[in-house]
Amino acid sequence: MKKSIFQEFDGYNDIAQEVQISRKYGAILGVDGDSVDSEISRLHPARISLRVSEIIDETSSTKTLRLVSEDGYLPPFLAGQYIALFIELRGIRTSRPYSISSPPNQTGYYDITIRRLEGGLVSNYLLDEVKTGDRLESSGPAGNFYYNPLFHDKTMVCLAGGSGITPFMSMIREVAECGLDRSVHLLYGNKNLNDAIFHDELQAISSRFENITYLPVIENPLEGYKGRTGFITADFIRETIGHLSDKTFYLCGPQGMYEFCLPELEKLGIAKRKIRKEVYGAPVNIWDYPGWPKEIKADQVFTVSMDGGVTMEARAGEPLVLALEKEGILIPSLCRSGECSMCRVKIISGKVFQPSGVPVRKSDRKYGYVHSCVSYPLENLEIVI
Ligand code: FES
Repeated sequence: MKKSIFQEFDGYNDIAQEVQISRKYGAILGVDGDSVDSEISRLHPARISLRVSEIIDETSSTKTLRLVSEDGYLPPFLAGQYIALFIELRGIRTSRPYSISSPPNQTGYYDITIRRLEGGLVSNYLLDEVKTGDRLESSGPAGNFYYNPLFHDKTMVCLAGGSGITPFMSMIREVAECGLDRSVHLLYGNKNLNDAIFHDELQAISSRFENITYLPVIENPLEGYKGRTGFITADFIRETIGHLSDKTFYLCGPQGMYEFCLPELEKLGIAKRKIRKEVYGAPVNIWDYPGWPKEIKADQVFTVSMDGGVTMEARAGEPLVLALEKEGILIPSLCRSGECSMCRVKIISGKVFQPSGVPVRKSDRKYGYVHSCVSYPLENLEIVI
């Protein structure tokens, strides 16, 4: 009889014998499920209990919360990933993602850096009410915004805006502290120089490490400011980084930054596969987003009925997930930006607005599932959670 190719592999006979014995005596084949499960939940815990060990003032509107683990263990992460903080606030249980700004080689704590947001429910609570010693709960590290040596170029061009600096700070600190064989060009846009988070540290790192360059770009500089002003334009990118090949581009910042910088990268002919974008929360003022139906006002209220018979109200200008949370209906969520698909709900009837570019699976689209963190009611809805 012809030998199967598998029979050529080392250990084939041992496994074949084990299979035969297991078949005869009905033993359970395979690896020890319990040990695999416990290793997975150690590396990817659903929840981490954290304590605020220190609060560091960064700028007038920004602080870093240094978070240590209650049980002394923090799962590893890749520079650029985030954790979602689960918060109960004024009777609403909700969550928000925050990029980790400390480097992954620092295993004793996670730093998250928070900027004040006008009307920001969670960010303002974290800035104004949380104190050293307070307890917080988070997800394990998550997200796909990191350097992958298999697919990405060793030269990273990082375009940051405002608090979008945080994942880059983790990457840059790791490159500097671990002496990694990688180059980073950071172009960092802010309205004023005083708003540039980590400015002094970035200047110190770039003057010390040849492979790291830092260029602040200031929109409204004070008189006499000598650095680069305006926006991160195609011309500026070209003159800063030289030739464009063998470089991967990373973007993280507020919505307006993507709207401005992506066309600039297009002008430079950068292929889409060379551009990596960090999710950055649901769009603010969704009613100003391209494609929003002008006849629908942000404060228009629709009814949402659920499979369990519950009916509630939801505002057009508010993500469906938040409306559900306000009613005490919790659905899993991590990124709150339409990317992780944890918050899917099925729309049985009615219409929602979803900003362009949300990566909804083809099968989800076909069967009516939406990501509720970036879905906004445009009509009365009937949904299944
Ligand atoms: S929470 Fe990640 S897609 Fe909605």
